[in-house]
Amino acid sequence: MINLRMLAARVIYQVLTHGRSLSDCLPETLSRLQDVRDQRLLQAICYGVCRWYYRLDALAHSLLEKPLKLKDQDIHCLILVGLFQLMEMRVPAHAVLDETVSAAQAFKKPWAKGLVNAVLRSYQRSATELNEKMLQNLVTLYAHPQWIIDNVQKNWLLDWQTILTVNNQHPPFALRVNQRQISREHYLEKLTANNINARIIPETQAGILLQHPVDVQDLPGFFNGEVSVQDGAAQLAAELLELEAGQRVLDMCAAPGGKTGHILELQPNVELIALDRDEKRLQDVRDNLGRLQCTAACICADAADIEWADGQLFDRILLDAPCSASGVIRRHPDIKILRRATDVAKLVHEQTRLLKAAWSLLKPGGLLVYATCSIFPEENAAVLQAFLRSCPDASEKKISADWGKACAIGRQILPGMHDMDGFYFARLSRGLN
Ligand SMILES: C[S@@+](CC[C@H](N)C(=O)[O-])C[C@H]1O[C@@H](n2cnc3c(N)ncnc32)[C@H](O)[C@@H]1O
Repeated sequence: MINLRMLAARVIYQVLTHGRSLSDCLPETLSRLQDVRDQRLLQAICYGVCRWYYRLDALAHSLLEKPLKLKDQDIHCLILVGLFQLMEMRVPAHAVLDETVSAAQAFKKPWAKGLVNAVLRSYQRSATELNEKMLQNLVTLYAHPQWIIDNVQKNWLLDWQTILTVNNQHPPFALRVNQRQISREHYLEKLTANNINARIIPETQAGILLQHPVDVQDLPGFFNGEVSVQDGAAQLAAELLELEAGQRVLDMCAAPGGKTGHILELQPNVELIALDRDEKRLQDVRDNLGRLQCTAACICADAADIEWADGQLFDRILLDAPCSASGVIRRHPDIKILRRATDVAKLVHEQTRLLKAAWSLLKPGGLLVYATCSIFPEENAAVLQAFLRSCPDASEKKISADWGKACAIGRQILPGMHDMDGFYFARLSRGLN
């Protein structure tokens, strides 16, 4: 019998010591479990441990007499798994203890059984007092690293506590209806007929928010491309492009193709090039487009190096830039563990490089949409301000919208606003001469 807690501890170990993301290392582990309920439990534990890592790790350290050695970090991960279950899950405590302690055996470290047992029992005995202690500093209270807390506090004076709180909630499950195939109202009726409660996302043209997540195979028409899973905020990008038939459009960082598909749903009569430097992820673009029954020219290249281009310019460019993903922490809580403060400057450098390349491919009179799923102004308005200073034929085309907050340039949706992910958008238009 596979011990599920051991599997969870192994996944967490991969994240903590090898810097692998959950979406990278969890699927292979999930595939080892037959029962879908076990898969759900494993997923909930792994996401939960990452979500609360900064609190659980502090708890573990205060419960251990001395930190575990480097070679025993698997046992440290197992303790985090046990503490998370006791703290957050509705699993009976005796089952948590039995299973987590016997996972030490599965790690072939029988000596650790007593230790894991002692730590978890000691937490049970003094949970109230220990939990109280965790509320006394911001890192353990909000379960975020200090550098993210500092950045959010500095930049979002009125919203920082809400942002950090929302980041620890479960993300909403949103859909984009392919209005080439079915209207949003009609699709909503289909959901109701299938006992799936949902409502429209009024800030979007095609968005629907489900009350509870469902497996995609249970979504009517999913495999025929009637609907895609996409957060409401992400749906705003293609809408901002003001697409018209006959335009040449570049989706510069396209994979896995969420926005590529949306562009073609909004305007199938465009010449669309989808670019990404990751061939494996580019295959996801092709697969996604296939499901939606549309196609685009998919090119694998570094978008900042315009050698791939044929010299013809574009009417519309979407630059959905690689970023810290600080706006989607509730969806990917491992970001809090994997990202470093020093990453931001590197990302800004890459964003600027991509923006410059994009500009050189934009037609006079053309429109560029810059988007990130970050809430750090360094990656957003500051990138555009610096760019505008260096580029006389670029000007901001203001977004007038009833969503988000106006920034120095562009608009920011903070995590949880309108039930959406944190996203930033700005538009630049190129002068005609
Ligand atoms: C935020 S994701 C894009 C999400 C996508 N637009 C969607 O809606 O599904 C950023 C993408 O940029 C790609 N990327 C990062 N740097 C790049 C570069 N220099 N050239 C091309 N693609 C790049 C990454 O491989 C990643 O797929």
